[in-house]
Amino acid sequence: QAFVFAGLPLKGKKALVTAGPTQEPLDPVRYISNHSSGKMGIAIADALAAAGAEVTLVLGPTGLSAVNPAINTIRVVTAEDMFNSSAAHFTQADVIVMAAAVADYRPKHVADIKMKKGEGDALTLELEKTKDILRTLGATRTDKQVLVGFSLETNNEREYALKKLREKHLDLVVMNSLNDKGAGFNHDTNKVTLFDKKGDARDLPLKSKLEVAQDIVAAIVDIVHLNSA
Ligand code: CTP
Ligand code: CA
Repeated sequence: QAFVFAGLPLKGKKALVTAGPTQEPLDPVRYISNHSSGKMGIAIADALAAAGAEVTLVLGPTGLSAVNPAINTIRVVTAEDMFNSSAAHFTQADVIVMAAAVADYRPKHVADIKMKKGEGDALTLELEKTKDILRTLGATRTDKQVLVGFSLETNNEREYALKKLREKHLDLVVMNSLNDKGAGFNHDTNKVTLFDKKGDARDLPLKSKLEVAQDIVAAIVDIVHLNSA
């Protein structure tokens, strides 16, 4: 399936996309991570490129890749690496989509040799917060940039999505509910609701992640056009 955009609407625009999980090491053989495959974010990167944008994709550990060879993919492992690569491209970007499932916490101490099982029955890990990439870089955004975030929840989805929209200074938030059949991790399909800056919702039906990506990029194109009108 190919993305269809009439007349390369994002030609001359630079886009930054984060996608995939991050891995936070505990020792040389173990890490903390999540189920993200990067599929949705990668599809958005491909759709942005199909719309004519020059795309940088900051991608956490996944076996998947973008299809379009013109996309500049920067592979990263930790939340800190993802922050640094995103920060390096944020200011120049006209469109930013942060779809990555970034670890919120990481082990405070990383052992440089493999941890051994102790005598006791339990192990307590001390974790520290990672930097919120979207919130930190979003605080430096300009009115001309278009900033899009994701919100994946199991409960109170709408309330949390609207909170992220406000607190992270977003133009658009893509809400994913893990309660919807065929949505979320390890699916080729997704069911999302888009909230615009005013908080108005648009529920999209269950579709392939490629079609959802096309719809998200179409919504971005509308915002870009409004901003330059
Ligand atoms: N995000 C980010 N950096 C982080 C955490 C989140 O850039 N350290 C971004 C995600 O890419 C997503 C948005 O923030 O676009 C929302 O992520 P989510 O995990 O749903 O929300 P959080 O703000 O982390 O809050 P919580 O996990 O407690 O719901
Ligand atoms: Ca989070």
